Amino acid sequence: MNLKERESLDRIVDSHDRKETELLQILRDVQDKYRHVSVSAMQHIASSLAIPQSQVRAIVDFYSFLSEEPLGLFDVRFSDSITDHMLGSREMLSLLANEIGINVGETRSDGVVSLNVTSCTGLCDQGPAVIINGYAVSALTPDRVYQIADLINNCVPHSQWPTQLFHINNNIHREGPLLSEKVHEGAALAKAASLGPEKVLDELELSGLRGRGGAGFGTASKWRYCRDAIAETEFEGESYHKYVVCNADEGEPGTFKDRVLLESRAHDVFEGMTLCAFVTGARKGFIYLRGEYRHLYKHLLQTLETRREKGLIGKSILGQPAFDFDITIHLGAGAYVCGEETALIESLEGKRGIPRNRPPYPVTHGYLGYPTVINNVESFFAVTSIVLKGGAFFAAQGTAKSKGSKLLSISGDCARPGIYEYVFGVKISKILADCGAEGTLGVQVGGPSGTFISSRDFDRRLAFEDLSTGGSFIIFNKTRDLLAIVQNFTRFFEHESCGFCTPCRVGTSLVRRIFDKIVAGHGTTMDLQEITELSRQVSASSHCGLGQAATNPILNTLDRFPEVYQSRLSDLNFQPGFDLDEALSAGREFSGRDDENAHIHSYE
Ligand SMILES: Cc1cc2nc3c(=O)[nH]c(=O)nc-3n(C[C@H](O)[C@H](O)[C@H](O)COP(=O)(O)O)c2cc1C
Ligand code: SF4
Repeated sequence: MNLKERESLDRIVDSHDRKETELLQILRDVQDKYRHVSVSAMQHIASSLAIPQSQVRAIVDFYSFLSEEPLGLFDVRFSDSITDHMLGSREMLSLLANEIGINVGETRSDGVVSLNVTSCTGLCDQGPAVIINGYAVSALTPDRVYQIADLINNCVPHSQWPTQLFHINNNIHREGPLLSEKVHEGAALAKAASLGPEKVLDELELSGLRGRGGAGFGTASKWRYCRDAIAETEFEGESYHKYVVCNADEGEPGTFKDRVLLESRAHDVFEGMTLCAFVTGARKGFIYLRGEYRHLYKHLLQTLETRREKGLIGKSILGQPAFDFDITIHLGAGAYVCGEETALIESLEGKRGIPRNRPPYPVTHGYLGYPTVINNVESFFAVTSIVLKGGAFFAAQGTAKSKGSKLLSISGDCARPGIYEYVFGVKISKILADCGAEGTLGVQVGGPSGTFISSRDFDRRLAFEDLSTGGSFIIFNKTRDLLAIVQNFTRFFEHESCGFCTPCRVGTSLVRRIFDKIVAGHGTTMDLQEITELSRQVSASSHCGLGQAATNPILNTLDRFPEVYQSRLSDLNFQPGFDLDEALSAGREFSGRDDENAHIHSYE
């Protein structure tokens, strides 16, 4: 490495205060600048931060947006989500591959462009989508693909590409009690200041708000636990080592409502985080923004700056001397598991996103071991309205165990994909009618880790006590190949498994292989039995929610559509997963034998 490169790396490391917790952000910057993180860069960063080089390498290997090998000047990644496939992403991908002259997984020999696929980009309502140099382009058509190919082939700098290529729609089709409420910046904070922290918590308790990220834990309880937790390393009576984290990782395929909230209602989300600080005594907040939402980064930075200028974050918020709180944006780097709250904390600390053992929970042992509240974007958004309008207003809507309303990200086979807000308790049939879904075969409620429902479930209701969802609602009509859908989900989990525990690392891979065999028409009754048994084992013995939910799509669809699986089986007897005779051909060539006895014809 020459002196200039070393100085440039030093500038990057310095801009992150040479903090180990900033390692992922440092590596992101290096990747951006040099299109890869070379071995010499890893060595230099390791010595600058006084950490082992293996620690740096582990991060580069873990996050899919980092690469040790140089990527092209234009790094192109197509969304591999099922909804993008349904909207023609594979056709757009082959068109572009043809125009730029490379295949998926390759970098062109002139170093100009790399082509790959990536997990869901959160643009399922406007696919097919692609991420180019970190920025999303949606609604691809052949014309747009030709335009992109021209820009790439002519090496037009990414910063000079037409801005309309990067335009993203919010597609809000149905506003409910939360979205229709236009909140004035700072109004909820002013109300909180007049109530005091205890009463704010009481209102939250009264509202019955449950976390909107999927698990549905009571938000007031979470905040109370954190408020009451004593920071383990409390010094001289100071208890400000508490943190507020907004989970904007939104990696569940089919979910994009957090993207829309951050684009259209960022003030309300930040206000919710600040209210949490007011209650818990935290002085520092993070928003963990998934790497795929980088297009929101500048807008969020600007919103934070505006709030600082208005005294809504920073020192002495609203003129209250003891109320200091500020928020930093942390960018993810392409790892779905980092949405799991403890993996997210690890990632915030600059490590690989490997889920921790729980308990202890983040409310007592979170970021750097300090008490931490982690909530979903929508949860913080809801808190702002609750504080303004009162807990009773929120609790008056919904069902016994699910108060208030929920934002849905609706995609797939319907006339009007986009964002819909419903009061809990709404029937699935009503949602399908509203978004213009016809001839529906089934709906994946809650994304691949949720539940696949069929027409027998359309009278069921959206609620924690019935059909629960973090927001994803993917509709499939009767022309769709059910097994191709499940195959996509199965591959997604295999790819996103962090590899920490054996049941998930090995199990998702074995399950995917058997599933591929069934889809290819080589499956047998034995394979169905094996995949069912294996799916249950993976679910029961995995370390975190990813592995525990990874085989839901298989188990759900086997239960609801057994005939689809049966019709795809080739034989009731054992069939090998690959062609044994073909596998032995190299041995025959080596030994110079090709007689009858050197072939395997059957397994009887
Ligand atoms: C694999 C996995 C991915 C997750 N991804 C997200 C996510 O992207 N956003 C989110 O808010 N919660 C996600 N969660 C749930 C979080 O662990 C956590 O429950 C949530 O952030 C808590 O916020 P809430 O109480 O406001 O829902 C995920 C969980 C698992 C197991
Ligand atoms: S279940 Fe999967 S994602 Fe979770 S810790 Fe184990 S290997 Fe990692």
